[in-house]
Amino acid sequence: MTRATISFMRRGKRVDIEDCDPKTTLLDWLRLEERSTGTKEGCAEGDCGACTVILARERDGKLVYEPVNSCILLLGQADGADVITVEDLAADGKLHSIQNAMVEHHGSQCGFCTPGIVMSLFALSHEGKSKVDRQDVTDALAGNLCRCTGYTPIIKAALQACSDPHPDQFDVKAAETLASFSQLRALEDVFMGNDEQFFAAPAAESSLAFLMQKYPDATLLAGATDVGLWITKGLMPLKRLIWLGRIRSLTTVDETATTISFGAGVTHQIALPYLAAIDPDFGQLTRRFGSRQVRASGTVVGNIANGSPIGDWPPAFIALGASVELRNGFSNRSIPIEDFFIAYKKQNRETGEYIRRVTVSKPGPNDHVRLFKITKRRDEDISSVMGAFRVTVVDGLITQARFAFGGMAGIPKRALAAEAAVVGLAIKDIATWGAGAEGLTEDFAPLSDHRASADYRMRVARNLVIKALAEIAGVPSSSTRISGFREVSHAAE
Ligand SMILES: Cc1cc2nc3c(=O)[nH]c(=O)nc-3n(C[C@H](O)[C@H](O)[C@H](O)COP(=O)(O)OP(=O)(O)OC[C@H]3O[C@@H](n4cnc5c(N)ncnc54)[C@H](O)[C@@H]3O)c2cc1C
Ligand code: FES
Ligand code: FES
Repeated sequence: MTRATISFMRRGKRVDIEDCDPKTTLLDWLRLEERSTGTKEGCAEGDCGACTVILARERDGKLVYEPVNSCILLLGQADGADVITVEDLAADGKLHSIQNAMVEHHGSQCGFCTPGIVMSLFALSHEGKSKVDRQDVTDALAGNLCRCTGYTPIIKAALQACSDPHPDQFDVKAAETLASFSQLRALEDVFMGNDEQFFAAPAAESSLAFLMQKYPDATLLAGATDVGLWITKGLMPLKRLIWLGRIRSLTTVDETATTISFGAGVTHQIALPYLAAIDPDFGQLTRRFGSRQVRASGTVVGNIANGSPIGDWPPAFIALGASVELRNGFSNRSIPIEDFFIAYKKQNRETGEYIRRVTVSKPGPNDHVRLFKITKRRDEDISSVMGAFRVTVVDGLITQARFAFGGMAGIPKRALAAEAAVVGLAIKDIATWGAGAEGLTEDFAPLSDHRASADYRMRVARNLVIKALAEIAGVPSSSTRISGFREVSHAAE
């Protein structure tokens, strides 16, 4: 069965969109069509959070409230969800408890950021935590920029309103909302539009294979945290879009004793607990990946598929020794992730192929993992250099090493000379650390750009090798890091 509409819930009623430009953003629909202008547009690129709204969805039988940047999320991605905006919070003439707390603590001046901040805090308050701390609040607000009030009153309001919140009208109606999703019929394929331009959201991989064969030039869409910007900033005239978010078989995380496999629809937020369990540095990196809104929409596989030389997951997964499963029609192939990246903006992907899953090998008992993301700001920033390390140590000797870097070449890349330089050497010997750092000069000749100079990148990368090996040798991370200390890591929270 195919449904010819994009369908979602809004204020208890089903909305069916029969005809719209497939690249319409949710924000444009809210502001220009529905005329719900409480949600603001600031940057139109996912950075400021002024456009934050909630998509309430059913996940594993539970209702979850996910904050998203409506400026880069396409309208079709709301299919199957309940869309909640700032206009919906006050009830019976009374402000929501989060709005009240913002008023009491003077959390708003010009008010432009306020709807987005209130919606991010609304999502935090529905995470079901009995007590939120400052770290929870700053994590929740990392994607919300306030230029005039300052964060102190906003954080005070959040601490008051998000700890042990009283049930609100959404909690009271939760069962009803969950039941309403059945009318959106998750098992139907969605195809809104015509051969020339469409938004398609297949419900099964067989339908995806059919669409990709029929429309080999269509753009695949996962979370749209990259593709959304091609539209709002690149003004790309995309006409045929295929969204992967409704295919159940792609939204699973499969775990064995030695591996974890993430389907193409698995978002960073869903992957977080699995990644944090691999190593605390994975948890830290996930928390610093974009913002809560970016992590709610963006996928792990999308970060690999876009082939950016400064994406965070490719180096981390190369270091772990991951593989990428690609599917074309009904034939599959699997390749080591490092072989997926061929050259700048060129990946090992045939026309009609898509990435089904990425599978990472869990570190063994003698393996040590370290990840370092070097950015100009701590939160919501893209790496200048990203260093990822997996080192196997047996009886004090390095028996295997996998070092991978982002920001050092046109693709995320292994540092084979540096790895070879340390294998067989004693981990505690300072000369080993220097040998690894020296090896990098054979591996990379980085470029200068607006993020960092070539000299800076090389210097940082060398220091990261030393830092990783020193920590693995036993140097406490309190002397090698300014944050994210492994000894007190709360990354798995
Ligand atoms: C504000 C902001 C902050 C960000 N911060 C970070 C950050 O800290 N670190 C970082 O690395 N990135 C960051 N990004 C970039 C982006 O969020 C990530 O690259 C994200 O993982 C992309 O995933 P997506 O699901 O949104 O991909 P999409 O935008 O949907 O797609 C990205 C590309 O991959 C292709 N694609 C998607 N899925 C598949 C598939 N299964 N098979 C084949 N091709 C596919 C698409 O066609 C497109 O070319 C940020 C982006 C924004 C807007
Ligand atoms: S308008 Fe800035 S994040 Fe959407
Ligand atoms: S209140 Fe003005 S930007 Fe936050």
